[in-house]
Amino acid sequence: MKKVYLETFGCQMNVSDSERVASTLSDKGFEMTVREDDADIVLINTCSVRERAEHKLYTRVGQIRKSFKKKPYVGVLGCVAQLEGETLFEKIEGIELVVGTRAVGRISNVIARVLNGEEGIVDLGDREKDYDWTVSNPQRHSPYVAFVPIIEGCNKFCTYCIVPFSRGREVSLPASEIIRSVLELRRNGIKEVHLIGQNVNSYRPGTESGLEDFKGSTPFSRLLRAVSATGIERIKFNTSFPRDFHPDIVDAINEHENLCNWVHLPVQSGSDEVLRRMKRGHTIESYKKKIDRLRESGRDISITTDIIVGFPGEREKDFRDTVDLVDYAGYDAAYIFKYSPRPGTPAFDMEDDVPAAEKTRRFLELESAQRRSQSTRLRRYLGKTVEVLVEKQGVKFEGQVSGHSTCHKVVNFHGPENLIGSIAKVQVSEIKSNSLFGQLSMQN
Ligand code: 5AD
Ligand code: SF4
Repeated sequence: MKKVYLETFGCQMNVSDSERVASTLSDKGFEMTVREDDADIVLINTCSVRERAEHKLYTRVGQIRKSFKKKPYVGVLGCVAQLEGETLFEKIEGIELVVGTRAVGRISNVIARVLNGEEGIVDLGDREKDYDWTVSNPQRHSPYVAFVPIIEGCNKFCTYCIVPFSRGREVSLPASEIIRSVLELRRNGIKEVHLIGQNVNSYRPGTESGLEDFKGSTPFSRLLRAVSATGIERIKFNTSFPRDFHPDIVDAINEHENLCNWVHLPVQSGSDEVLRRMKRGHTIESYKKKIDRLRESGRDISITTDIIVGFPGEREKDFRDTVDLVDYAGYDAAYIFKYSPRPGTPAFDMEDDVPAAEKTRRFLELESAQRRSQSTRLRRYLGKTVEVLVEKQGVKFEGQVSGHSTCHKVVNFHGPENLIGSIAKVQVSEIKSNSLFGQLSMQN
């Protein structure tokens, strides 16, 4: 039996695609191994969102070639594969196959061809016509949490972003399939589903969506209500696009206990001028309104974001506006990135005029502003009881278990291992920089 080692970089969509690859290969008689130096085939599912992510591929292939005892076949999947295609064979020595973002369903055929001695195989084609989005026996990253893609690709073309090129146009999955999949996951013991997509709230299924029966305004909020009705314990969704973030989403959260109180709403910049050049389709005023609406909810909704510093033409004044926005929004967490020019994107043709040292300075300053704001914000959890899906043993201390709250915070607490897989009530006693610590509540 041939052994396959699969490594994944990047976003949840890549994690989800990797789950598909692992399931397909196991079904076809391959053995998935966690020991890289034991593998006959090494697959790397790649990310190209920033230059550094792309670079990891080059470093990894070098390491594999140098240090592995067996000389495995090496395959490149995902975004870098899609963008580079067969030019990858020239750029990196020692790879045997290249499979794009929508071709992962055919991975076993590609590997079979490699094992047959074929060379230079590239598959950048589209999904198969009968592609089944809902794998029935998937190899998942967690036995309790499942990622369910609801929309693929992106039509937004933010000027800095490579995703519309690496993942193609938006395709929404039929609601009936999503619901069927969630019901099945629930039957199989999954406690939490994450509805995933580059822009989940741009969800727009065709006419045979199966959503007509659900009253509400936007298709996404109707989908949320429909998924809620499956009775699955917890539902999270990620990522939301500000322009399409309508109040009916907040209403749905307010009305359905199993829709979790966490929204990831990337703002990217606090300056209207920069947002315009990023072609984000929202202004700071319109974004703040969405934040206000979330804050007015009866539920304590945690808001997180992504921000890019040092976009072409970003002046000190623009950056100050971003710092102000962070203070205004009171994010529970923010992922901050230094602008990285991506060939092929519109911003690549703009002058990358913020010097590297200045990008670093802005990055560090924004990070510390966020840290300050976050530590104040997170204090609201002190003494409160949060519901935690216990996912594993704690990594740092014996006798601790760890999981995520409904507001998507990592929560560690002392508790027996047999809690793993269940939802526990935990009273928060300490705020750490990126997690909460607490005591198992007596109400359990
Ligand atoms: N440079 C830096 N950050 C980027 N992101 C996307 N493209 C770039 C880029 N070229 C960030 C955005 C996005 C997150 C997933 O990655 O903030 O929301
Ligand atoms: Fe990239 Fe913008 Fe699409 Fe997000 S919405 S994936 S940032 S183009």
